[in-house]
Order: sequence, then C-alpha cells, then structure tokens
Amino acid sequence: MPLVTTTEMFKKAYDGGYAIGAFNVNNMEIIQGITEACREEKSPVILQVSKGARAYANRTYLVKLVEAAVIECPEIPISLHLDHGDSFETCKSCIDDGFTSVMIDASSKPFAENIEITKKVVEYAHDHGVVVEAELGTLAGVEDDVKVSAEDSSYTRPEEVEEFVSKTGCDSLAIAIGTSHGAYKFTAAQCTRNEKGILVPPPLRFDVLEEVSKRLPGFPIVLHGSSSVPQDYVKMINTHGGKMPDAVGIPEEQLRKAATLSVCKINIDSDLRLAMTGTIRQFFVDHPEKFDPREYLKPARANIKELVRHKLIDVLGCAGKA
Ligand code: G3H
Ligand code: 13P
Ligand code: ZN
Repeated sequence: MPLVTTTEMFKKAYDGGYAIGAFNVNNMEIIQGITEACREEKSPVILQVSKGARAYANRTYLVKLVEAAVIECPEIPISLHLDHGDSFETCKSCIDDGFTSVMIDASSKPFAENIEITKKVVEYAHDHGVVVEAELGTLAGVEDDVKVSAEDSSYTRPEEVEEFVSKTGCDSLAIAIGTSHGAYKFTAAQCTRNEKGILVPPPLRFDVLEEVSKRLPGFPIVLHGSSSVPQDYVKMINTHGGKMPDAVGIPEEQLRKAATLSVCKINIDSDLRLAMTGTIRQFFVDHPEKFDPREYLKPARANIKELVRHKLIDVLGCAGKA
C-alpha cells in the first residue's frame, strides 16, 4: 500500500489500547532495521524525519529511502512524518515533498501564537490530505540543538487543551507529562537510586494525561522523549571507549501503561542511536583491523531491528495490528 496518514492508525490504536511507534530515521540502515521488524511483526509504523535529519541527508534522500521501504513492505501501513517542524515554511515544504503527516511545534511560543501558527499549518495540510500534530507544554532535553533545561520545561495545562484543539483543528496533540528528549532525561538530583545504585527517574504525570483525555475524549495524544535508554547499550558504549555516565530514560512499564490509555503515538529516537553506537563501538574494539562500513553497519542494523521488535511487542502493543 502507498504511504498513509495516521488517521486510521490512531483510531484503531485508541480503540485497541495500544500505541504506534514513531521512530526517527536518518539513514538507510535505520530505516531498514525499523521496517524489517515492523514487517515481520505485522505492525503499522510512523517513520519520522526531524529538521536536522532533513538537513543532514537533504530533502530528497530520506523521502526516497522511505518510499523504498514502502515498496519492500507492501503489507504494512507506513506514515512519513515531519518531527518538530519549526515553521509554516518547513511544514509546507514537507507536505509538498509527499509527507503524510507533519508536526508543527510552536510549543515554546505564547498560547495565542501557538494557536495561530498551528491553525495556518492545519489549513494547508488538510487542503493537501495531510494530518497535523501540534504540541502544548514544553519538554526538557535537547532537540535540533535547542536545549530546554528541566527548570524551563513545563507540564501541559489540561485547562488549555480543548480551546487549543478546537481553534487549531489539529489531528493529534503532543503533551508534556514528564518525558524528556535525549539520553540524559533526568539529573541525578531528580532521581532516586535503587538498591543496585541505578538511577530511578521520577514517575510520569498520569494525572495530567488523564485530565487531558477526559477533556478530549477519543482524541489521539502523543508522547515525545520516550526512549528508555536501555542500560545494556549504555554499558556496551561505556565498556568500549564511550563515556555516557548516568544516561537514564523512561521506564518501559510506564510507556506500556500510557499506550493502553489515550496515547496513540510514542516517539523513540535516542534508543536507536544507542543501539547503533554501542554496536559499532563494540565492533571496532573486537575488530580493530576492519574498515568496511558494510561490516559494522550490518550488526548495527540487526540490533536496531531487535530493539524495535521488542518495543512493538512489549512496550507499544502494536505487533499484529497491521
Ligand atoms: O526530538 C528530537 C529527535 O530526537 C530528533 O533529533 O533533531 O537531533 O534529529 P534531531
Ligand atoms: P527520545 O530522545 O526520548 O528518543 O525522543 C525522541 C523524540 O521525541 C523525537 O521527537
Ligand atoms: Zn520530540
């Protein structure tokens, strides 16, 4: 089937109590790892491209690689989404390039301005058969080189969501309930330590999610910053020349719970980066004489595939839902 929007995916996910994985893509091996897992597990998937990814690969390559995945995986629904679009112009250019979904992230702007920009994107997108994700509230962490400190982050205010959705006409809403971008989601001071000395992050604000869902019944909610930062990969990186102390993510049980509620899209990027980096670091330590990119990218792609398979089955609950 051709690229699809997320409308049907989200309706089924909402009704079925699961979420669709939205994985960031930057190159061919990442796209192959993700889509091979989704194909084998019969799962719908969202492949998302950030402004930074588009700058890295240029505006043509990632679209064409995703189109190749669509040809290779004809039996699963695949949506191509712009992650964190920063302006009307970026969103328009992706819509014109064939994306089926865009995010306009004006969450750092004042409420009225966020509404105004989002509404303009929605009008253009809907005229072209494309759906729009918007955001209310600010996540901590790093995205496209913009750093938001924990102090400057803010939870979504449930009392704002009805007005925002009705005035903008957006199709899904990203909210801030304590997730955070990147591999260092929480400082040691924000966490407690368990008996093994491992950092345990503060729990997500399910009270905020429930209040938002009550006010927007049936409406798809999105969680950004939802990597779990697998400690096996952090260890693999650190024992093979890397230095990522105290990298900590969102516990998978909490994401699993969110997926059974109104959360229909869960964004995962950092975990893929950790799997790829850990695997390549280990490969070079084990095989210092090798230099063929195919030899080190092959195991990296295989580990991305297994990581995604695990997310589909054990976290998102979307395996078998294609
Ligand atoms: O939320 C941001 C995503 O992880 C994309 O990251 O801007 O470095 O491509 P990026
Ligand atoms: P992570 O950094 O937790 O993977 O979040 C990715 C994300 O939200 C992309 O928009
Ligand atoms: Zn994000």
